[in-house]
Amino acid sequence: MADTPTAPLSGTVVHGAGRGRGLGFPTANIAPDPGTPAPPPAIYSGWLARRASGTVHRATISVGTNPTFCDTSEIHTEVYCHDTPGDLYGERVELWFVARIRGTERFASVDELLLAAREDVRRSEALLDSEHGRHVLAVLS
Ligand SMILES: Cc1cc2nc3c(=O)[nH]c(=O)nc-3n(C[C@H](O)[C@H](O)[C@H](O)COP(=O)(O)O)c2cc1C
Repeated sequence: MADTPTAPLSGTVVHGAGRGRGLGFPTANIAPDPGTPAPPPAIYSGWLARRASGTVHRATISVGTNPTFCDTSEIHTEVYCHDTPGDLYGERVELWFVARIRGTERFASVDELLLAAREDVRRSEALLDSEHGRHVLAVLS
């Protein structure tokens, strides 16, 4: 996939602005390790690997400035995990990107953002189940 790095993004889960949980869309905010590969800002499907447990989880990832809410240039890496609601704070994780879903947008309302994010998760599920998604899973396992 041209837009996704072939090596994982590694980092630590940190506290974000705390909006996601209130929106019913909790995300793990990742502080990437210095020098770790990161794709350009966009929404992606990918696999989240937790170092401590050795488990791998289905994920939809936002890399961007969250323009719906912020006017800063700071890039956030946020992961919505499809299959584990657990608290990941402080954990070391790796993100294995599978495919780009769409570009980041500035939505006029939170409802529009949530509609788009739910659709992203649906598309991400299919991408993770695709031949390429399963290949990435085999490489990291
Ligand atoms: C699947 C997904 C898609 C997202 N798409 C956008 C987007 O297009 N525009 C945007 O401003 N933020 C987007 N975000 C980021 C949200 O704004 C962010 O997760 C939310 O504000 C919670 O941030 P917090 O965890 O720092 O509180 C997306 C997040 C996810 C998980």
